[in-house]
Amino acid sequence: MKSTMIVKKSMQFLVLTALAGMAFSAQAKDIAAGKAKADAACAACHGKDGISTIDPSYPKLAGQHADYLLLALSEYKSGARKNAIMGSQATALSKADMENLAAYYASLKGTMSTKR
Ligand code: HEC
Repeated sequence: MKSTMIVKKSMQFLVLTALAGMAFSAQAKDIAAGKAKADAACAACHGKDGISTIDPSYPKLAGQHADYLLLALSEYKSGARKNAIMGSQATALSKADMENLAAYYASLKGTMSTKR
């Protein structure tokens, strides 16, 4: 009787540890790698720190939601979202690159706000 309890308890522990590990890896994006990539490949158009100063057709990325950025990049790469400039930018990116870039830009403070 007692040993079954112990087995049950350790099974629960294993399941919980596995779930915790999954939750952690789902968030473990490499912001520093994202920044390095952004400085090298994106800053010319999207500005330093994701605040573009060229003109409004070059979107500001700072402070945008990470899931939106990731979706936009994936859709440029797949062709679901069509843009000649970004299509060619996105073909060079791996999934990990996109996740890191999205996490980096989302971590920055944006300039958009609502007037109160
Ligand atoms: C040569 C200029 C140029 C470079 C370099 C560039 N972009 Fe863009 N990017 C643009 C333009 C122009 C748009 C607007 C395209 C459109 O209307 O869909 C855009 C759009 C985007 C969007 C969609 C934004 C939104 O609000 O919907 C994302 C995300 C993005 N770029 C990420 C990146 C990343 C990450 C890099 C670096 C790997 C990069 N871009 C490099 C010019 C550039």
